[in-house]
Amino acid sequence: MKSGISIASVFFFAANLACTVNAQTYMTGISMYGDTAGHSDAILPYYSIKDFPVMDFESDDLRCRTTETDISVTGTKVFQVANAGDTITLYWDPDSKTIVTKESSPEYINGPCMVYMSPIENDAKNGWFKIYGSGHENGKWCTDAIRERGGKLDVTIDASIAPGKYYLRGETIGLNNSELSSWDDYTQGAQSFANCAVIEIVAGGDVVPDGESIPGIYNKNDKGLKGNFSDANDGYEIPGPAEYKSSEGNGNKSSKKVSSKGQ
Ligand SMILES: *[C@@H]1O[C@H](CO)[C@@H](O)[C@H](O)[C@H]1NC(C)=O
Ligand SMILES: *[C@@H]1O[C@H](CO)[C@@H](O)[C@H](O)[C@H]1NC(C)=O
Ligand SMILES: *[C@@H]1O[C@H](CO)[C@@H](O)[C@H](O)[C@H]1NC(C)=O
Repeated sequence: MKSGISIASVFFFAANLACTVNAQTYMTGISMYGDTAGHSDAILPYYSIKDFPVMDFESDDLRCRTTETDISVTGTKVFQVANAGDTITLYWDPDSKTIVTKESSPEYINGPCMVYMSPIENDAKNGWFKIYGSGHENGKWCTDAIRERGGKLDVTIDASIAPGKYYLRGETIGLNNSELSSWDDYTQGAQSFANCAVIEIVAGGDVVPDGESIPGIYNKNDKGLKGNFSDANDGYEIPGPAEYKSSEGNGNKSSKKVSSKGQ
């Protein structure tokens, strides 16, 4: 169960935020096709200090930056996605420094963004498969692309994904101080900013892709997490597992069923 380790790490980071970490963000909501205001009540509850980064990539905080994943307890609303194959929009705090839009505070940190899903039965611990990953494309970081859109990230859910309730985990990673890993020095390392929403796919295919546990998807020494990325180009390697794509392409409902049970 939840140990004191990750709680301690939260307070450690909180205590050090002001002087050592100048980048914070969090996911604020979710919508369909970005055409309505984000539904913030679909996000699992934040820690009281909701914008601290997770730098210990073996911590339980890496999942969703929350201790509460039981939606019957938290009252988290389930966001309904009409069909697998639809595009949903994740909203990130536009005032935060990873994706800041205010010209008066131009400092922000750069890095990739990733989106994962896991069937809700897994209680956010395992079964995570990646549905989206963007590192450095067309000469810019994913965080820059989000920032230019005022905090929005569009993600299409593969049409082969089976109906059901899932945790959806949106994550940006800041790489400005990633020459050292967090285990070497807690003021240095890649900074993960993940939050989870709960979504329900009402209609879809029949695939539940194999997933992995979180923590477990990243290693502190991963090529895309540790290093000096100030001169990164589009060859940047996105961390974590490969993105799930149905082998027959979007819209083909006869995909092979892959079970995530028994992990
Ligand atoms: C991170 O690096 C980018 C690119 O070098 C730079 O534009 C940005 O200001 C840096 N942010 C911080 C907080 O150092
Ligand atoms: C990272 O690389 C850039 C460009 O090569 C360099 O200016 C900067 O000093 C390096 N940062 C560190 C911490 O070594
Ligand atoms: C869907 O996948 C099946 C099995 O691989 C294949 O036979 C079929 O042609 C595909 N249909 C379309 C529309 O791609």
